[in-house]
Amino acid sequence: MDRKQLAVVGGGTMGAGIAQVFAQAGYLVDLIDVNSEILKRSLTRMDKSVRKLAEKGAIDPSNVDTVLSSVRAVSDIRQIGAASLVVEAVPESFDLKKRVFQELDAALPPETVLASNTSSISITEIAAATKRPDKVIGMHFMNPVPLMKLVEIIRGIATSDATYERVENLTEELGKTPVEVQDYPGFVSNRVLMPMINEAIYVLMEGVASAKDIDTVMKLGMNHPMGPLTLADFIGLDVCLDIMEVLYSGFSDPKYRPCPLLKKMVRAGYLGRKSGRGFFEYES
Ligand code: CAA
Repeated sequence: MDRKQLAVVGGGTMGAGIAQVFAQAGYLVDLIDVNSEILKRSLTRMDKSVRKLAEKGAIDPSNVDTVLSSVRAVSDIRQIGAASLVVEAVPESFDLKKRVFQELDAALPPETVLASNTSSISITEIAAATKRPDKVIGMHFMNPVPLMKLVEIIRGIATSDATYERVENLTEELGKTPVEVQDYPGFVSNRVLMPMINEAIYVLMEGVASAKDIDTVMKLGMNHPMGPLTLADFIGLDVCLDIMEVLYSGFSDPKYRPCPLLKKMVRAGYLGRKSGRGFFEYES
């Protein structure tokens, strides 16, 4: 029997994680990135993650090689095979996403569903750049994708019910839980999460408590698996700032103003884990 195909554009942490969970669910996956170094690193990370999950019994160990060989690294959107759905996971820039969606729209058959893993950019606006707005949708995975159960499914103004149902069924097939969300800035996840992180940064800036103690309060007091400042470092402070800017401009409401300390840290290049320094320090 022919195996069904999906594709993911963008070989960063999120794109690689999404390709991995598709492969674990039995799909053949094209993972596209223009940068071959990024693709190489993604495949190495995927190898480590799949083996770890097999060690823990989350994946049948006899399936490891099949899963890993199901992902094909590709450098050009025009090389995508017969994918029925493509998830875009490129960096959070509207202009970049618009260009990727226009390329996908031109290269793929009209019935292919085009999903974006954006964490805050308007699905309606991305869809408007294509000739198939009814088949454009948000499929927002959480980091680390292989472990996190949630997928926010975001309906743009023109997203059809058929497209929504297709993505909802796929999400369930991956063993994840879909939540239906309308297209407003930050969706649900980041509209609730980012103001909490931003407030934790204000608390730090005002000297109310140390970074470690702020995190301890939220971990032990609220049972959060990571404190907000560790989580901000994990997500990336530049990403947190971008999302706060989207909320601030999207609602024109001062309650979303990004904390000056967050801005200062991003300007300094203290981006969290990926740069080795954020609210905490990390070994490379
Ligand atoms: N693949 C496979 N295994 C992995 C993995 C991955 N990608 N990442 C971690 N693991 C494994 C670890 O190796 C570890 O294995 P061992 O128990 O054998 O050591 C195990 O999972 C547990 O990991 P840790 O010991 O490092 O730590 P943990 O118990 O705290 O779990 C966590 C890690 C699941 C990430 C947990 O800390 C957590 O849930 N943190 C919050 C994550 C979160 O909030 N994510 C959402 C971010 S927001 C977002 O993504 C959206 C956005 O738009 C910004």
